[in-house]
Amino acid sequence: MDNSIRLLISIEKFTFEEGDFSLKEIHFTVRSGEGIALLGVNGAGKTTLLKLIDGLYKNYQGEIRLDGREIRTLKPREIYSKMGLLFQNPEEQLFAERVFEDVAFGPRNMGWREEKVREAVKRALLLVGLEGYDDKKIFNLSFGQKKRVALAGLLAMGQEILLLDEPTLGLDPIVERNFIELLNNLKKEGKTIIVATHNVDLVPYFADRVVILSAGRLVLQGPTKEILTSLSKMTNYNLRPPLVSLPFYSVKNNLSEIPLTPEEAEILLNKLFLR
Ligand SMILES: Nc1ncnc2c1ncn2[C@@H]1O[C@H](COP(=O)(O)OP(=O)(O)OP(=O)(O)O)[C@@H](O)[C@H]1O
Ligand SMILES: [Mg+2]
Repeated sequence: MDNSIRLLISIEKFTFEEGDFSLKEIHFTVRSGEGIALLGVNGAGKTTLLKLIDGLYKNYQGEIRLDGREIRTLKPREIYSKMGLLFQNPEEQLFAERVFEDVAFGPRNMGWREEKVREAVKRALLLVGLEGYDDKKIFNLSFGQKKRVALAGLLAMGQEILLLDEPTLGLDPIVERNFIELLNNLKKEGKTIIVATHNVDLVPYFADRVVILSAGRLVLQGPTKEILTSLSKMTNYNLRPPLVSLPFYSVKNNLSEIPLTPEEAEILLNKLFLR
């Protein structure tokens, strides 16, 4: 598998014009096909970082490179043909009156012929479980439905790198489950995915690595299992491990055996009870 570095993030400092928040000393790389979970409390800087990576804020010190090229030197089209951002708030993303128009916007902007656009929109709406919603007015949709339309807009573009800001926010449990399957399928296709999320219970399903931000700084990064079983460090940053893992700390003293998902817990419980 190609595991070249797609994103190199090396931010010395970024400060907003207003207020006193800064991102500082954020250094990490993302390889092709990797899944990264970006964790941190409210206001830690996850959304700001994703927007920087997507080339939306340019006045940072340091560098952000997409396939080796500084993001500030790329034309929007060069960025959007490879990488897309799902906004935390779908209201920021959606602007057309009806679902089809919105999802079709990106593909049309890429200059695809109409037939290809229609196919891409149809497939994307199917992937987010909104088939048949083409003519619905976005204004009248629920929050979770809007989030799914926004995701469809991204999927229709078929970009290789996806930056997802709180993608499961507002999704019902079944749709959330389907979304995790979708993420896994996208990963199998070789997509590179960075997900900012508070939904730590879902992180083990898609993340190879976890990056933790605290007060604008990168404070911890590593393989998912290693980070999610670092109880005291997670607590330091006001985070928690997946709930399902908690009861196992008193049962297992080998951290590598702590289950992070209900499925892993089931396997371990079967082993414990059958021995
Ligand atoms: N345009 C802006 N101008 C000034 N300050 C901003 C701006 N956007 C965000 N901030 C500030 O930057 C800080 C980080 O915000 P950010 O949205 O990146 O956090 P987050 O980790 O995504 O939080 P959440 O978990 O709530 O989504 C906050 O203190 C916020 O007030
Ligand atoms: Mg955010």
